[in-house]
Amino acid sequence: MKTSRRSFIRSASALGVLAALPGCTKALDTTPKPLDILILGGTGFIGPHEINYALSRGHKITMFNRGKTAPDMFPDIERLIGDRDDQLDSLKGRDWDAVIDNSGFYPRHTRLSAELLHGHVGQYMFVSSISAYAESLTVQDDEFSAAYAEMEDPTDESDSIYGETYGSRKALCEQEVTKVFGDNAINIRPGIITGTGDPTQRLRHWLERMQAGNEILVPGQEDLPVQYIDAADLCGWMVRMLEDGSGSGPYNAVGAEDPYRARPLLEGLRDATGSTSTLTWIDWEWIRKETSETPNYGPWYGEGPMAFMQVNNDRARASGLAFRPIANTAKDMIANLDQHTVTWGRGGFDSDLEAELLRKWHAENG
Ligand SMILES: NC(=O)c1ccc[n+]([C@@H]2O[C@H](COP(=O)([O-])OP(=O)(O)OC[C@H]3O[C@@H](n4cnc5c(N)ncnc54)[C@H](OP(=O)(O)O)[C@@H]3O)[C@@H](O)[C@H]2O)c1
Repeated sequence: MKTSRRSFIRSASALGVLAALPGCTKALDTTPKPLDILILGGTGFIGPHEINYALSRGHKITMFNRGKTAPDMFPDIERLIGDRDDQLDSLKGRDWDAVIDNSGFYPRHTRLSAELLHGHVGQYMFVSSISAYAESLTVQDDEFSAAYAEMEDPTDESDSIYGETYGSRKALCEQEVTKVFGDNAINIRPGIITGTGDPTQRLRHWLERMQAGNEILVPGQEDLPVQYIDAADLCGWMVRMLEDGSGSGPYNAVGAEDPYRARPLLEGLRDATGSTSTLTWIDWEWIRKETSETPNYGPWYGEGPMAFMQVNNDRARASGLAFRPIANTAKDMIANLDQHTVTWGRGGFDSDLEAELLRKWHAENG
């Protein structure tokens, strides 16, 4: 029987599925001290992974959001209604052991919640992004050597949450949390997150194409480095870090141990999913001569290796982050594919153009 996303979300904690997952290099404390955890957000993509894992570990959850996104999700969990912008009253007069802030995108919002919660929560875990780094990032950088992305006017809130200034705003949000919470501030910087519920086409594009079973055009270099992290690995590790109270400062949360390489990654996904697709690699130079279309293949954004796809994860791994095989992620996603709502990001060329490019390429190259 197929598992719907909703039934996955509801049943995972009851079955203890997430508690048993990898994503952990330390011996698991099977009976952690129960924590009261506040989740700012909770009903989008990674929130449900955090909540299910935390429930499976015996913690108590309170959510804070506007009640707009998936209002019926987690009917048995306390939900405080408010808005990061200016309605934080429902958070007043309450105490929690820790907060996970998923929904901070503007420094003013993050400052407001950090200041209000200071003295009322022990640890403030902010979900940032590797986009907080400046374009000058190199493969040699770690959390402390890399420069932050900057914006001209840090008070400018005119951009959409995932707009151009997303990364520089994340950097400023981190700084707001650290100013208020000091050593009790934890800034998690994920790279590309995927897994059950991923609302983007970034991995799903390939899985859907493989399910169709036809020849697939793969642009670019076969050994291009790529990093994905499964939301379940990320969120399990985040919750365990709150349990042992050892987290502090910034962590690059990117997978896997070493970056994947494009060809073995895609061939592995194809084999894991039982697809009969053939993968045809075509370099960008040839493609460019044929079309000016620039599809967002993510993470094959660039035409060569990117530092943002080879981010150093030593600090996170030393604190217990580990990764399930990407084939398992793919299988989970395929089992739930019809329940994923793609809200942003497209993948690949239009199918007619892809077929035409393949036809021409074979005519020239056999
Ligand atoms: N996906 C990736 O690859 C990736 C990579 C790096 C970092 N990240 C970061 O991961 C984080 C997690 O995002 P997610 O969508 O998965 O989180 P989530 O917690 O599952 O969902 C977002 C939540 O925020 C709430 N929310 C949105 N605007 C709000 C507002 N103004 N006031 C109060 N609540 C609000 C939404 O509910 P309502 O709409 O009901 O308010 C929803 O519950 C983000 O910070 C993102 O930047 C993601």
